[in-house]
Amino acid sequence: MKPVFLIGYMGSGKSTYGKLLADETGLAFVDTDDYIVERSGCSIPELFAEKGESGFRRMERSCLEELCLRRDTIIATGGGMPCFGDNMALMRRSGLTIYLETPVSVLVERLAGTGGQRPLLRGKTSGELRQFVERALEERKPFYEQASCRVDSDCPDVVHLLAQLVRYASQE
Ligand code: S3P
Repeated sequence: MKPVFLIGYMGSGKSTYGKLLADETGLAFVDTDDYIVERSGCSIPELFAEKGESGFRRMERSCLEELCLRRDTIIATGGGMPCFGDNMALMRRSGLTIYLETPVSVLVERLAGTGGQRPLLRGKTSGELRQFVERALEERKPFYEQASCRVDSDCPDVVHLLAQLVRYASQE
């Protein structure tokens, strides 16, 4: 079965639900940020500091090209991955893309205090965080909305919902 890509903003639950989904379906699980860290030997904040965001995006792209060849794998992507170059088109060609749609208020709640691991959010007050997330989501939505399916990441049983989509995709 072709890979399943979970996409959405930071804090939308891609890694959390992706792991649960992999357990439920017996598929493998990869988080693109973890993959990049393993490949480069540097943390995400270190990569941003040393190579800048553009260096990080290049690394992200080359890891994505490798991961697109995987089979039977759930892939939780970094929040920015679908929004650079033709990454979204590549994912759409290579497997099933699922957008975890999440309201801004939920994202802001989940992301508060995570600036240490997420360089784009570092040093923001809660007011700045909300403003930043609102604006970024507006810019990114046109990319996320190109996914072949969309689920509400705030729904009570999102893992069940995702499992249904994956089963459906595996029969195609
Ligand atoms: C980013 C999201 C992060 C990570 C990097 C940049 C983004 O991944 O790739 O900090 O641009 O939205 P998560 O979505 O897993 O937090």
